[in-house]
Amino acid sequence: MTGKSKETIYQYLFTCEVKNMTTVENDIKEKYSNLREEKSKEIYFYNSALFKHYVTFIQTHTLFIKEIFIKPVEKKETIKIIKKTTPSLEDRGITKKDVLQKAKKVDNDEFYTRYEDIEKELLLYDKKIWKNKVVFCNCDDAVDDDEKDTSAFALYFMRNFKELELKKLICTHYSGPVDLFNQGAKGYVFTKDGFREFKEFPKEYTGSFDHPLSLKILAEETDIVCTNPPFSRAIDYWETVIKSGKKFLIISNISNAINTAFIPYFKNNTVWAGYNRVDYFLNPKKQLVDASGHWYTNIPIKDRPKYKNLKILPLKEIPEKYKKYDDSKTLLVDNCFIPSDYKKPFAVSARPVLNGVLEKGYKIIQDKRYTPYINGKEGFARVLLQKI
Ligand SMILES: C[S@@+](CC[C@H](N)C(=O)[O-])C[C@H]1O[C@@H](n2cnc3c(N)ncnc32)[C@H](O)[C@@H]1O
Repeated sequence: MTGKSKETIYQYLFTCEVKNMTTVENDIKEKYSNLREEKSKEIYFYNSALFKHYVTFIQTHTLFIKEIFIKPVEKKETIKIIKKTTPSLEDRGITKKDVLQKAKKVDNDEFYTRYEDIEKELLLYDKKIWKNKVVFCNCDDAVDDDEKDTSAFALYFMRNFKELELKKLICTHYSGPVDLFNQGAKGYVFTKDGFREFKEFPKEYTGSFDHPLSLKILAEETDIVCTNPPFSRAIDYWETVIKSGKKFLIISNISNAINTAFIPYFKNNTVWAGYNRVDYFLNPKKQLVDASGHWYTNIPIKDRPKYKNLKILPLKEIPEKYKKYDDSKTLLVDNCFIPSDYKKPFAVSARPVLNGVLEKGYKIIQDKRYTPYINGKEGFARVLLQKI
């Protein structure tokens, strides 16, 4: 049987015979009272998991007699495009260089985060940080009935919603040039509020993290932001999230601690490294690719396990091959050796910062990266530290 409401055609996907319809109906109303609309008094099952729950509830009810009809899953119709007319670059007002640049940018951004990398990091934080909190995944964290078209961030929080005692999960889909999760060209906001799960497609909404609606959700609803933002937008993404004053747990490039755009955040202690590096992502073909990512956060880290990688020793005990002076007589130390008795500034790579050197009595003393020269030859970029 089918029916029609103002906006949708709906179908009864499940029909059955029961002993006393009024009693069953009252039990359904009571059981799903939180899904009942206040005005219309109708109950909506927003996704297939909830619908399955409802069907099972009836099937196991003491007054249930027998099932009459379950609508078979319809095969999706495939539409063949026979003739395709592609506008020329000129028609589109762009050059070949624009296309190449865009392709490169897209290429660097369009990676899936693996579920296991999210689980491995998030399990290390105190579970209490999530209790009663609203989590916002704001960089294309699509949600679909099919798990393969759902971002691993959304999946992790949906699966652990109860366990973490979350209040709400909000995920956005970005309508960018590459549709990583096959979610269509419209940006949307997915919300899971307790049992209720729904998607909204606000007019003109792109799903970009800096769209006014995303910024409103960030400012007014969010407690914790958690996602893997596009590397190409990392600078403005960090600025947006840090400015919001919210807690965050995000993946970004492993070398941010020696990059001038990010050094001030580490220097001012507004950001620090999370627990793990992220060595792999999945490309759009779901193949493993190298990632050079790391988790970053402003949530407390307990007894950072990577402290053990730091070798804090008197300067004379640091092996010669890991210490040298550059042309301006600045000490450069490598391999996570840190001089414990050196009062002047010295330069290190990003690794000691990721291993927690800033929590061990050292500070960053310059807002920009340090580029050493040895015999006039440029060495790799570093950051300048000094013992406090
Ligand atoms: C590294 S991927 C991660 C995707 C997904 N969050 C995950 O972790 O699997 C970055 C995603 O951000 C999307 N993106 C690009 N620009 C964006 C923007 N301005 N706002 C939100 N998302 C954006 C990209 O299309 C891409 O899907």
